[in-house]
Amino acid sequence: MTTIITNISSLVTVNSDGKKHKAGRDMQNIGEIQNGAMIFDKEIKWVGTVEQLKQQISQGLITPTKIIDAKGKTVLPGFVDSHTHIVFGGNRSLEFARRLRGVTYQQIAEEGGGILTTVKGTREATVEELVETGRKIANNAIKHGTTAFEMKSGYGLSTESEIKLLEAIKQLRNELPVHISSTFLGAHDFPPEFRNNHDGYIDLICNEMIPLVKEKKLAEFCDAFIDKGYYSLDEGERVLKSGLEHGLKLKVHCDELADFGSTKLATNLGAVSADHLLFVSDEGINALKQSGTVATLLPGTAYFIRMPYAPARKLIDSGCIVALASDCNPGSCFTENMQTILSLAVINMNMSAEEAITAATLNGAAAICQSDKMGSLEAGKIANFIIADVPSYTDLFYHFGINHVEETWVNGAMVV
Ligand code: NIG
Ligand code: FE
Repeated sequence: MTTIITNISSLVTVNSDGKKHKAGRDMQNIGEIQNGAMIFDKEIKWVGTVEQLKQQISQGLITPTKIIDAKGKTVLPGFVDSHTHIVFGGNRSLEFARRLRGVTYQQIAEEGGGILTTVKGTREATVEELVETGRKIANNAIKHGTTAFEMKSGYGLSTESEIKLLEAIKQLRNELPVHISSTFLGAHDFPPEFRNNHDGYIDLICNEMIPLVKEKKLAEFCDAFIDKGYYSLDEGERVLKSGLEHGLKLKVHCDELADFGSTKLATNLGAVSADHLLFVSDEGINALKQSGTVATLLPGTAYFIRMPYAPARKLIDSGCIVALASDCNPGSCFTENMQTILSLAVINMNMSAEEAITAATLNGAAAICQSDKMGSLEAGKIANFIIADVPSYTDLFYHFGINHVEETWVNGAMVV
């Protein structure tokens, strides 16, 4: 059924004009239509001003079936959260409490906690339990405006448990109304049984896990945590190349804990996105700019583990394609609220409101290769949008810490 939403005081289209992303200065252009209207069924049919809509109706060009009065609210594309780890077992609030008393994220990892605590909880969980955790977090995210996700495995670290995580993600994709891209992250850490045999575990990833993931069609992307204390450049490269050989695209955890050179490696391998980038070097920034690999920033993580923020200004001013995502996970950033992420981006990374919106919508969609279908409100794209109870998009940032999203629409249907 065709629906019209009218009286939208701030209609943020993030108009892409057929481009798959916006880079650098172009991120500032979000195509706001004041006093706007939108016509859609499953897809967006038309956007314009209320004035133009009235003309079209009077000329008989449109026969409205259902009209919604937005009563001066704001409409934006739904957020695309292109980096999450929301399917996991167990709970790390005790480790978090220790961090509040001064123990660092890395110290906890060195003691055998951190990611490995969640690995233990995940191995003990059933698929149903994993789906239940993921469902609760995803539904919360949708209430806060997320209309598409990427979800990673990475807390199983054995063939059986990695497949179990990806099966749980597949189940969420089948039952939730939103788009979900799936990423194999077997190279998130080394499991305890391979602590002293990295090559043995990498052999298992390359010779058993990746072929099985491909055969079962359980993931579209392959990821690796290439950083100080985790995968070396050589180790990460072996995993990523095996992913490529099996037809998976790459998304890579890069330079999160140190300037490690992993951003350069990711761009050399043609990764779709390089994520985190807290310590990315100038060489890494230049490589991102030249390659067109999306620079996905996760300011919630810097906040949550008290690290310096990624150099968002430098990346944007250098002309890179910057996306924002939550990194929602039980250890380094436990929030599924993209409005919080946008708030951190503008206040602590000096992004403008416009850049933050582009990064969390169109460029997020580009980071999961979906920007031809979603991420902006333009004729032909899927009708994924949110109605926020604020007079202008600026108010989303100005009045922070609360949920402004009143309705979330996916494929032209209201889901919240
Ligand atoms: O993206 N960087 C690696 N992995 C996660 C953290 C995982 C965890 O602590 O459970 C991240 O920050
Ligand atoms: Fe992550």
